[in-house]
Amino acid sequence: MNLKGRNFLKLLDFTSEEITYLIDLSAELKQKKKQGIFHEELKGKNIALIFEKTSTRTRCSFEVAAHDLGMHVTYLDPSGSQIGKKESIKDTARVLGRMFDGIEYRGFGQGIVEELAKYAGVPVWNGLTNEFHPTQMIADMLTIKEKLRRLQGVKFVYMGDARYNMGNSLMVTCAKLGMDFVACTSKTYFPEQKLVDTCRKIASETGASITLTENVEEGTKNADVIYTDVWVSMGEPEEAWEERIRELMPYQVNKKVMDNAGETAIFMHCLPSFHNLETAIGRQVYEKFGLTQIEVTDEVFESSQSVVFDEAENRMHSIKAIMYATLK
Ligand code: CP
Ligand code: NVA
Repeated sequence: MNLKGRNFLKLLDFTSEEITYLIDLSAELKQKKKQGIFHEELKGKNIALIFEKTSTRTRCSFEVAAHDLGMHVTYLDPSGSQIGKKESIKDTARVLGRMFDGIEYRGFGQGIVEELAKYAGVPVWNGLTNEFHPTQMIADMLTIKEKLRRLQGVKFVYMGDARYNMGNSLMVTCAKLGMDFVACTSKTYFPEQKLVDTCRKIASETGASITLTENVEEGTKNADVIYTDVWVSMGEPEEAWEERIRELMPYQVNKKVMDNAGETAIFMHCLPSFHNLETAIGRQVYEKFGLTQIEVTDEVFESSQSVVFDEAENRMHSIKAIMYATLK
């Protein structure tokens, strides 16, 4: 398998075999790290991290993974660079491409990261856009493989806002890997029909299936994985909370949902999550709407079925694999 020089912008650009290779490489690099085997195989290389939205996991994963591989990192936050305000993406790409061996970009429209990749001349990794969050996918599939020992045929249920980066990416990934993807949410929040059609076409070749349903009981019955994400994403207006709470509350992940899925089901979330009142936004929502927990109850989040911190750890191992595969 040779992915050297490739961009990592969305999983639609990769074959099932390439995705599986990245998942397995992540497991291999994770084992190396746990065994204390040094793997500074990209010593002397330099990468740039551009973040136009905030991050804890993605930024830390890129930095730790780069250091483990022997690379140097430059972090650019939007206020500290010329990007967008004084310099176009096209020009920025051509400048950074002269200095760095790889560039991570987190921001708004997918078109921006695609443009960056078009002109950089070095691998560009998508650290999250409005449409896709591909590095998260490798970590999520690694986590499922670790917990359930398989991916093919897994019933994967996504609840909440399924038309944004997480819902889109998970539907594509499940289609590519022969999984049974269910978007269980209100109709308004189903993924865009064009992407659904694309995924159904992929599914017809991999043995996957794509189901969209508003019925929680049917949708979550015997699920292997229940997944959710925040109902209002970064960059969306604060006013969106009211309609999201009204429309998505029936799709909150709670004990009833987990019981309906069954005791072997696992709960996943890309994080960060509003499952208690220990965040500023969580408290604001409480003051306005009286809710103490939002997309998932604290009970489920803290339960033994929840694998969210293994999933978060796997971000680092999988981002390392993505950088290694595209740079080595
Ligand atoms: N899951 C995820 O991307 O987390 P951050 O926003 O903290 O990077
Ligand atoms: N949908 C979320 C994902 C965060 C990792 C957002 O875009 O804010």
